[in-house]
Amino acid sequence: MKVTVFGIGYVGLVQAAVLAEVGHDVVCIDVDQAKVDNLKQGKIPIYEPGLTPLVTSNFESGRLVFSTDAAQGVKHGELIFIAVGTPPDEDGSADLKYVLAVAETIAQHMDNHKIIINKSTVPVGTADKVKAKVSDTLASIKKEVSFDVVSNPEFLKEGAAVTDCMRPDRIILGTDSKKAEEKLRELYSPFNRNHDKVITMDIRSAELTKYAANCMLATKISFMNEIANLAELFGADIEHVRHGIGSDPRIGYQFIYPGCGYGGSCFPKDVQALIRSATKVGYTAQVLESVEAVNYKQKEKLFEYIMSHFDNDVKGKTIALWGLSFKPNTDDMREASSRVLMEKLWDAGAIVQAYDPEAMEETQRIYGDKDELRLMGTKESALNGADCLVICTEWQVFRAPDFELIKSKLAQPLIFDGRNLFEPKRMAEYGFDYYAIGRGL
Ligand code: UGA
Repeated sequence: MKVTVFGIGYVGLVQAAVLAEVGHDVVCIDVDQAKVDNLKQGKIPIYEPGLTPLVTSNFESGRLVFSTDAAQGVKHGELIFIAVGTPPDEDGSADLKYVLAVAETIAQHMDNHKIIINKSTVPVGTADKVKAKVSDTLASIKKEVSFDVVSNPEFLKEGAAVTDCMRPDRIILGTDSKKAEEKLRELYSPFNRNHDKVITMDIRSAELTKYAANCMLATKISFMNEIANLAELFGADIEHVRHGIGSDPRIGYQFIYPGCGYGGSCFPKDVQALIRSATKVGYTAQVLESVEAVNYKQKEKLFEYIMSHFDNDVKGKTIALWGLSFKPNTDDMREASSRVLMEKLWDAGAIVQAYDPEAMEETQRIYGDKDELRLMGTKESALNGADCLVICTEWQVFRAPDFELIKSKLAQPLIFDGRNLFEPKRMAEYGFDYYAIGRGL
């Protein structure tokens, strides 16, 4: 099928590559000429396992085309995805200017029936706004062309995006058009095996499903972090509690890992956006406000431990930091807990000596050159002469380190672990002062 994807960000690029891989004919349009040029040379703007070979091979076979030519893009696709960003505006609401600009562009260039699919995470009611924008634009240029708008939210996780897209656990289609539903079922049929994963519903419910899913997951995390904080005060161990409650299938083991807070481009933005959307319809989303507040505080947790350990004085101290990205297997630093920690440490006069397997360039891009940030080439060199080690991201390479080496390199055997990677008892046996999250200090 002929598909066009507007917006070559995370969601757009992965979606496009995966659709091309199963044989669809995909054109990707972006306003960023440099990004398009780079992609044509096989330079992928993001780190995502499995994505580079997928993009390269489909680009070489001609099934995946990158361009800035919006008119060509609209002409090409019978199915047109909108996968542009919806960044938060000043009050945390999702900013729809890019989505609506694409809707306008589509209307300007379309000459036959199009199915316009919202892939971006957008507030409830956005499909109606897209419909109105397309209709108004068509009317203003006196064109009469039919079209459908579908809400088809994406549920991929960074670091597992290709697999999630290839093997989705659900395909949500919000549509009032039988024809559009059939076309999308056909498009997704290569991914819809074993049992029917397509769930159809009205457009507004599909839009809300996306927010509800992310907000539910964020709620699980903040809830667990709250219980972890209580465990600490009660002298209990959150890891036992996690095991104990996860065994109830109604609760489940997933997304109940306590830590130094959730980050990324989705949870913080989506929780905030739903709170704002709720306010606009006169409702106070109390659970979500608490989810956000708990997470905000949780991101300061490691800093608080460090300050209390050093009697509120870290001036001139060197802090080794393992893990900068907001989670493993990505170079994404958006809303990462490591950023809150580093910025607080710098304000308090400390030096950060950091290592991350993928996010070093991104850290350099964000913070530039500064004396109080030393980006180190290996996890071992990050320890050189440091006063303690802090772990912010649970990369596999941090899970079984050489503890004797850590001890020999640090000024004192001291670890602050924001992801509960080690057993406190063993750490004590190794001779470490070990701080983790919710483990009965
Ligand atoms: C999230 C959702 O999981 C995807 O389903 C969704 O499609 C995506 O947002 C999106 O809207 O695009 P993602 O942001 O890539 O995916 O990352 P997650 O794996 O969900 O992790 C988010 C954050 O929660 C990370 O900082 C992670 O460290 C933290 N987390 C996760 C915890 O602190 N504890 C947990 O138990 C799980």
